Amino acid sequence: MKLKIALVKGDGIGPEVVSAAALVLDRTAGIYGHEVVYEEVLAGGAAIDEAGEPLPEASVDACRRCGAVLLGAVGGPKWDTLPPALRPERAILGLRKELGLYANLRPVKLNPETASGSPLRADIAQKGIDLIFMRELTGGVYFGERGRTTTPVEAAFDTERYSAPEVERIGRRAFEAARGRRKKVTSVDKANVLETSRLWREVMHRLCDEYPDIEYADMLVDNASMQLIIDPGQFDVIVTSNLFGDILSDEAAALTGSIGLIPSASLGDGSFGLYEPIHGSAPDIAGRGIANPTAAVLSAAMMLRYSFSLPREAECIEKAVLAAQVGAAGHMTGGGNGTNEITERILDNIR
Ligand code: IPM
Ligand code: MG
Repeated sequence: MKLKIALVKGDGIGPEVVSAAALVLDRTAGIYGHEVVYEEVLAGGAAIDEAGEPLPEASVDACRRCGAVLLGAVGGPKWDTLPPALRPERAILGLRKELGLYANLRPVKLNPETASGSPLRADIAQKGIDLIFMRELTGGVYFGERGRTTTPVEAAFDTERYSAPEVERIGRRAFEAARGRRKKVTSVDKANVLETSRLWREVMHRLCDEYPDIEYADMLVDNASMQLIIDPGQFDVIVTSNLFGDILSDEAAALTGSIGLIPSASLGDGSFGLYEPIHGSAPDIAGRGIANPTAAVLSAAMMLRYSFSLPREAECIEKAVLAAQVGAAGHMTGGGNGTNEITERILDNIR
């Protein structure tokens, strides 16, 4: 099969980790007899430098012509002083919105092979983590009305807004995902304070009736942030809003020992998707060959599974990552274990 992939390398460590993931994709495709065609697409700080804007229309079109997008990361201090509409982050937000990618899947795993890297107490880490965030990605406060006012005092506002259909479609994704897992959905909100959360909860409860086979629980976001630390093993699928999902997924990622290990998939209603590590562009370590490529490689595996319906190939990569994590050198960068070393070990285990 022919896989047409848009590569958005982006800024900072983006190019390094995307290149590593492309090597792994190529090796895997070679074994299973697929042809991979890449189209390099400009977005983020790199696009600002080259084209004067973070997300040129031509870049969105180029992505649309492909079956999926693999993105590294965007942003850096160089562009931090630009006005909001010109910041590199606009590229990611624009791609998500324009491509209709409302469902953000962020699987977080901590297994015996990697438990030693976790900052959790050993007895909690040993129990492991195997959860997935179903984060709403194109609504909420990220995209609501915002602005500044000057009278009577200087002020600013951002608006959280959700429609029932927006909540329903992400809710459905969560329940469907749970069916293929441990059959448990936890919906995280702030319904004791926010009206959007009260609507969110009502819609989720309606969906519950349609999925009687799924165990369901509501959880307030402040409690959820605590539960993730004292008992992360209780979670299977966590469905939540754009902002809460952003915050909680960084927290959960840190529990695995490194934010460099967690991939993500952003999906709409079809097979098209955008795949990216949940980490940022890490400008402080860019170009030094010490960025962990694992999250980008696992994002490529998610791409094979969700956009190209190639579960065997996806598993092949995931198994290789796991195999590369066992042993003395470990899964974290540092002490002579750099991007190349980790990539090589993953490649050695692709078979
Ligand atoms: C993420 C990032 C983005 C977000 C930023 C870069 C806009 O933090 O993907 O988690 O907030 O969604
Ligand atoms: Mg984030």
